[in-house]
Amino acid sequence: MIIAETERLRLRNWQESDRDLFFEINSDPEVMTFFPFRRDRADADALFDRNRQAIADTGYGFFAIGLKETDEPIGFCGLAIPDLAPILPIGTVEIGWRLARRHWSKGYVTEAASTLVDLGFQTRDLNEIVSFAVADNRRSISVMERIGLVRDIAGDFDHPRVPDTHPHLKRHVLYRLKRPE
Ligand SMILES: CC(C)(COP(=O)(O)OP(=O)(O)OC[C@H]1O[C@@H](n2cnc3c(N)ncnc32)[C@H](O)[C@@H]1OP(=O)(O)O)[C@@H](O)C(=O)NCCC(=O)NCCS
Repeated sequence: MIIAETERLRLRNWQESDRDLFFEINSDPEVMTFFPFRRDRADADALFDRNRQAIADTGYGFFAIGLKETDEPIGFCGLAIPDLAPILPIGTVEIGWRLARRHWSKGYVTEAASTLVDLGFQTRDLNEIVSFAVADNRRSISVMERIGLVRDIAGDFDHPRVPDTHPHLKRHVLYRLKRPE
């Protein structure tokens, strides 16, 4: 199923043939710089299944990004339900992304994410979309700013699932975008 299309991209449901790409982006040390773990193939496959099930059950989750021209999968972008209550109250919807390294610096995530923001406000009637990242994750924060999210300085938080072995990955910044009037 196609969630949305942009000039160059198709946001779509995951296909079995996307599993290699999903493993690649979850195990590449550069892509995973700001995460306290790298996933092996079994872990990546299990996460792939959970994410696909969440999309089927709720309509929310991280959708595959495919290049329109070839349908090659390049990463993901999604409107998802974070499991971070009470830091982020139940009902919060986040926008998030991850791309294979060879597809960075082409504007793909900005293109995908701005279309998902429109879909969130216009079709899904959301009141607000948030995003969060490790405070040093400049590339991700730049995407947030390019698509119009604004930092909520009072919203900075320590991520409860980042272990004490990775103190530099604990502090997160929070960005918000309210539904336009
Ligand atoms: C976060 C992440 C998706 C951002 O990727 P990105 O390629 O920097 O972001 P975009 O796809 O929006 O591309 C922006 C870049 O493309 C360039 N660009 C080229 N054509 C463009 C276009 N048509 N529109 C916008 N930007 C364009 C921009 O100048 C910018 O260049 P830069 O690399 O010099 O900064 C990527 O770094 C990633 O996967 N990181 C690892 C996972 C991660 O940390 N996820 C977030 C967790 S919170």
